[in-house]
Amino acid sequence: MDSTRIRELLKKVSIFANIDDQALGRLASLVQVREVGKDSLIFGQDDSGDALFIIASGRVKVVLYGENGKEITLTFFGEGDFFGEMSLLDDMPRSANVITCEASTLVILKRSDFVAHLEESPATAINVLGELSRRLRKADEIIGNLALLDVYGRVARLLMDLAEKDGEKVEEGTLIRKRPTQQDLASMANTSRETVSRVLGDFQKRGLLEMDGKRVVLGPHFFREHG
Ligand code: CMP
Repeated sequence: MDSTRIRELLKKVSIFANIDDQALGRLASLVQVREVGKDSLIFGQDDSGDALFIIASGRVKVVLYGENGKEITLTFFGEGDFFGEMSLLDDMPRSANVITCEASTLVILKRSDFVAHLEESPATAINVLGELSRRLRKADEIIGNLALLDVYGRVARLLMDLAEKDGEKVEEGTLIRKRPTQQDLASMANTSRETVSRVLGDFQKRGLLEMDGKRVVLGPHFFREHG
């Protein structure tokens, strides 16, 4: 990745939205670029945190493992998203594992450079606080869904979130081009892959959605029932 592409990427990252060209150039000169293959652990929970990661391309998931090996996925991140800020801010070990779902290119900013930038740029610091609030709000919603909805409601909510984030309007409803795997949906809905398969099958039988491989179209009845 050349420095022009790195600058373009940094400009797209929400927390750097307000920085001037000089600060952007400085940041771009400080980062390292790392290519990571599919299904690789970028860092593990309890590792010490010494860098902020920005996704130039690809997709990662943030996961926790229970003692019995059960996995729960907290969120997915894609191009232009950042992660790994929490350890840098509270000086605690990593709060979760981050694993690539596809081959990914990551841009890495060392803790000392990130902290020096925050000290010079209150706008970035305010943007970080805004992003942390959005993530906490989302985490509250997920806690509520896990506690209050049945498994049909939880899977439906995940599909609604995907439709809201990446959905495209088509004649039959809202198209999600690339849904997560059934295993990943299961790990977000705190259920088994078999149950997700049954729930998706039931939604399809009832005419609420159409599935074709990774493509899902949510029809108008789906939104009427779960919106
Ligand atoms: P850190 O704790 O350094 O390492 C794990 C990262 O995953 C964390 O920083 C955040 O960037 C991200 N993360 C952890 N929990 C959540 C969550 N509930 N929602 C979104 N991102 C999270």
